[in-house]
Amino acid sequence: MFHGLPAGQEDPIIALMLAFRGDTRPGKVDLGVGIYRDSEGATPVMSAVRKAEQHLAETQETKAYTALTGDPAFADALRKLTLGDAASADRIAFAGTPGGSGALRQAYELIARTAPDATVWLPDPSWPNHMAVLDYLQRPTRTYRYAAPEGELDRDAFFEDLASIPRGDVVLLHGCCHNPTGIDPAPEDWTRIAEILSQTGAVPLIDLAYQGFGTGLTEDAAGLRHLAKTLPEMLLCISCSKTFGLYRDRAGLLLALAANDADRTTLQSQLTLLNRNAFSFPPDHAGRLVSTVLADPVLKAEWEAELTAMRTRIRTLRDTFTAELRRLTNSDRFDRIASQNGMFSRLPLEPEAIRALREDHGIYLIGDGRMNVSGLTDETIPRVARAIAETTV
Ligand code: LMR
Repeated sequence: MFHGLPAGQEDPIIALMLAFRGDTRPGKVDLGVGIYRDSEGATPVMSAVRKAEQHLAETQETKAYTALTGDPAFADALRKLTLGDAASADRIAFAGTPGGSGALRQAYELIARTAPDATVWLPDPSWPNHMAVLDYLQRPTRTYRYAAPEGELDRDAFFEDLASIPRGDVVLLHGCCHNPTGIDPAPEDWTRIAEILSQTGAVPLIDLAYQGFGTGLTEDAAGLRHLAKTLPEMLLCISCSKTFGLYRDRAGLLLALAANDADRTTLQSQLTLLNRNAFSFPPDHAGRLVSTVLADPVLKAEWEAELTAMRTRIRTLRDTFTAELRRLTNSDRFDRIASQNGMFSRLPLEPEAIRALREDHGIYLIGDGRMNVSGLTDETIPRVARAIAETTV
């Protein structure tokens, strides 16, 4: 049965993560996989999450099944965190999922059931797994223009492509902190996005994995909240991997916004069925940590302070790194990094330079030039900037 089975295709991000682990050189620098790192290069359990974990260990009385769509308190807490009061609960169906990837997968499955001919449009570029899963599911896909080579939103091209997407198709948008470019629409761009989608009837699918890493928890959600207010339907895939540092524990949520309560009821039954067919019950532990943190004002404040510290650190790294690159290359070609958002930027480097950084300097970037800015430290910035300057002369 298994003889002759072709090898599965490697994911470029996960392959690089493993290559980094296998590299025995001292001083290697991991700017690959999207995991927040502190100034020591570590990814500690967030302290508010640790306290919630202790509280849960002491008070949890059972691990009996919850519901097929997970703990409603988790869904409710994340709905408020992401959507605020932009959409009333009676418009929203939900499904707890294993991480944000699980939410995306269930969103794609839902689209396949409800609109089998709908094409899903992805930004060019996007997180590679967006397309990989759609390809795996043999779903129709297209890309829309998004990032200009200079590291800014290619506004005219983006809006032109967006306006061409027909009614019933689905447009995947990154809620904030675009992965891999760090390029986000400005507030007035979100207004325009909402206008265009209102006119065309295409449905937005928002991937939100970095709320709070860009400008702030509220600011980073403002665009998607505007869409939720303006448009009758929307899908929102939420990851708690980065925002609560719960990577391996897998906490995610799919919210499906319907035009009315009757549609919501049907949607809810479909999401319940999709979960049952895929894995029955979603993981509960990490989601319960999130709802515990968000329900307790003291823990919530502590978590927000930790998230703010992460965001601030990334902003400072962006500024320092950009200044160093400007000084060493005597050019402004890397300046955009300073104003981009979140964990990632994509460096304008040739594949040969990216290979040389890895092989000659032990500096790991994804093959398309994406770097995890938080992987830098004050200590490594001069060395990384120097290596980049050397490879680009
Ligand atoms: C990333 O983009 O590096 C992360 O979301 C990890 C992953 O699963 O690819």
